[in-house]
Amino acid sequence: MITFNLNGRKVEVDCEPMDRLSDVLRGKLGLTGTKVGCNSGDCGSCSIILNDDLCCSCLLPMGQIDGGYITTIEGLEDGKTLSNMQQAFLDYGASQCGICMPGMLISAEWLHKYKENPKPKDIEDVLGGVLCRCTGYKKILESVMAVTGGQYTRIKKNSDSNTVVGSRINRLDGVQKVTGREVFGADDFPEGTLVIHVLRSPFESAKFTINNISQFLADNPGVIDILTADDVPGKNHFGVIPGFSDQPIFAQNKTKFAGEAVAAVVGEPKAIRKFEPDSFPIQWVREPAVLEPAEATVSGAPVLHAERPNNILTEGYVASGNAEGALLNSVHVIENRYKTPFIEHAYIEPEAGYALRDGDRIIIQGCTQAPFMNKDSIAEILGIGSEDVRIIPTGCGGGFGSKLDLSYQPYIALAAWKLNRPVGIVYSRHESMGTTTKRHPSEISIKVGCDENFKITAIDFHGVFNTGAYASWGPTVANRVPVHASGPYQVANYLAKSRAVHTNNVPAGAFRGFGVPQTAIALETSLSELAQKAGADELSFRMINALRNGTPTVTGQIFSSGVGITKCLEAVRPAWERAKKYSSQHNNALGKSIHKKKGVGIATCWYGCGNTSIANPSTIRIGIRQNGQIILHQGATDIGQGSNTVITQIVADAIQTDINSIELIGPDTDLTPDAGKTSASRQTFISGGAASLAGKALREKILRHANVGENARIKSGPTGLYIEDNGQYHQVDLCRLPFDEFGYVLSVQESYDPVTTPLDENGQGDPYALYGYGVQIAELTVDTELGTVVIDRITAAHDVGKAVNPTLVEGQIEGGIAQGIGLALMEEYQPGVTDNLHDYLIPTIGDMPDIDIFIVEDKACDVPNGIKGLGEHVLIPTAPAILNGIRNASGAKINTLPATPARVLSAMKEVEF
Ligand code: FES
Ligand code: FES
Repeated sequence: MITFNLNGRKVEVDCEPMDRLSDVLRGKLGLTGTKVGCNSGDCGSCSIILNDDLCCSCLLPMGQIDGGYITTIEGLEDGKTLSNMQQAFLDYGASQCGICMPGMLISAEWLHKYKENPKPKDIEDVLGGVLCRCTGYKKILESVMAVTGGQYTRIKKNSDSNTVVGSRINRLDGVQKVTGREVFGADDFPEGTLVIHVLRSPFESAKFTINNISQFLADNPGVIDILTADDVPGKNHFGVIPGFSDQPIFAQNKTKFAGEAVAAVVGEPKAIRKFEPDSFPIQWVREPAVLEPAEATVSGAPVLHAERPNNILTEGYVASGNAEGALLNSVHVIENRYKTPFIEHAYIEPEAGYALRDGDRIIIQGCTQAPFMNKDSIAEILGIGSEDVRIIPTGCGGGFGSKLDLSYQPYIALAAWKLNRPVGIVYSRHESMGTTTKRHPSEISIKVGCDENFKITAIDFHGVFNTGAYASWGPTVANRVPVHASGPYQVANYLAKSRAVHTNNVPAGAFRGFGVPQTAIALETSLSELAQKAGADELSFRMINALRNGTPTVTGQIFSSGVGITKCLEAVRPAWERAKKYSSQHNNALGKSIHKKKGVGIATCWYGCGNTSIANPSTIRIGIRQNGQIILHQGATDIGQGSNTVITQIVADAIQTDINSIELIGPDTDLTPDAGKTSASRQTFISGGAASLAGKALREKILRHANVGENARIKSGPTGLYIEDNGQYHQVDLCRLPFDEFGYVLSVQESYDPVTTPLDENGQGDPYALYGYGVQIAELTVDTELGTVVIDRITAAHDVGKAVNPTLVEGQIEGGIAQGIGLALMEEYQPGVTDNLHDYLIPTIGDMPDIDIFIVEDKACDVPNGIKGLGEHVLIPTAPAILNGIRNASGAKINTLPATPARVLSAMKEVEF
């Protein structure tokens, strides 16, 4: 028995001295506020205070804490009141997905207690041990500074207001996040849940045989079953795009990447903890593998999928005018080649969840971005009807695209279905990074020309994307890239080709931008070079060429409103002029003797919101109970971006009620209609559109039933539904109304599906109902002796049509910038080498620059409320702006990412500067 003081009370636990404190807190004491992101001291999400020290509880053996005093996130609240720090995190919008919040808050409280008047540097030093992949840390820093500096006063923001859209209300699910009460995939397994461990290929390409399973079971008491391909009653494969479902649940005889699943061991938690994967009776014969697209497409290379000759998964193509001819006649031409690596999503929550058989139904609770897609896929795998699958998404501790695909779900579903017992899984950090999808590595060649008036004459773009062993979102990347490779510019002569190529690597899939960030790196750095070659200012060059209302895109689509790129460029122009002046003055004043050179770079983005040229429907339901309560069924998974909050804001305005009148039922495939997946920057735009239609329809029903005028305001509360008409409040009598199929006395269900058209053989058509636009400026310092780069400031302007919640918009921009900094300077996933958060570097709080944000609202008239998506746009311009800044400061032209110090130094040697 080990005894200690936990959050002010004495506890005694029966455990081994070498048990980890994090496991005991979560498993034995039920305090799941402390999170486990890595189990190896790298992420800080398990931070707790032991006596007077800030510690990672995953590294603390229980034997070391006997008699100690421990504070966890659950100990921060004073009774039912949030601590000042928690309330400040809530008010400043410091949390997004929330998985890092317990570690952040514990660290911040420790700092507050032990350091008087900490400076930003002190805060960075302490919070630098906690990784956040969502927020960009800026609002966290602001919250901590406000509290520790004594300037913080509690603000009540979710007050009654006639207009909710546009208000900086607090995140509706924010309290759960800052208290650690949000339930994530690993937090809530039923009593008696079995554990499943997936066995995976150690080789990129190999044949295998499994034998003598019965002997293995006999030798491993507590292991209940072994699952293989033979145990899949339905289809032994999954995928995300119809016609491209090609990844086996369990490989049969042969594997195509290191990490591919071959079998799974199910058993009691203790037995699975003790299980040694090397003891499993499997024989491997290694086969030749192809790891790069260039190797994979040569004649005679091993073919991964017989139906895809030369390992080509798919190709994309957009052409207009005559790019080749126009380039020949151009006054200035720039030609470049680029290479970008695999990028890991590095969400702090590894994949986790459990499955439970309920008669002839299967229920899966866990983290996901796409519950309805999961539902259909699991039904196919189990060979049951889709109506017999229920997906209950938990909080999603970061997704960024990778949690669109199935990962852990088939294994727990198969085991629970077969054994009729709850079965759970929590991926290790290594398993999460080694087996789930990545950003596609790219090899891009580009030629861009302009005339003497700085007008772009032509773009010729070829991109090859390494899509790994299975399709995942490879076809989407290949289709989206050629549409976006022009950037938000008028380009009369255009040729863009893309190709997704299979290799024996972990599958590449969706990651914030579907190939567009790689594309923008090539285009925007080439455009800056071209502008300089032509003698133009880089911002003015972009302004001359920018799309406007009424000008055609490269697919021939014309928007009559909402093309906001010129407004974004105008918004950042003063910052651009100031930054250019400052950096040249700094460098000139100090001359060649100084080795810390200032630089400034600019880049733009555009991004089509929603799926490319296919249906995008989203459906929202709202009902009124007989007691007058308004219930919103909102099925768009909130992975931190804020859909729970912004969809409710939109509904409140559409009904013309206040936000507190609405009770939210979040995603659950049994309770909420299909709002589609959370990807492609579509939820605020499309589910928001459905929410607006549904809110207006419900309002109409209420007004008709109450027989009141158009200007009435509606209020719902514990005592009923009220109408305020001409200053008079009336209670609406709902008692005599019958219940409908959903159990409501009044209800509506509305869908929104923005209009797109298919692309023709030249890629011409209307692939998206709208685009969002943005510009970022990077100011930075390059150490020309060491090759290191420090980002000093990012100025960002993003056109969102209408900012539903400006605080959340800012949070998205700051978080996207952080991921863009990682893409530019430090991130490179190497399969089998950087499968952990120690070797795979992502930006910490200390890597973040000052950020100035301009929210541009150029409404698109033909979509509901003019609202545009934002989630992916914000990452796209950061890396090219940084690369342009590095070249501006040092002359170094970085064509292979990331821009590590070695690459910067090597690139500097190639130029005279
Ligand atoms: S879980 Fe302990 S540091 Fe990551
Ligand atoms: S809010 Fe920090 S990891 Fe998501």
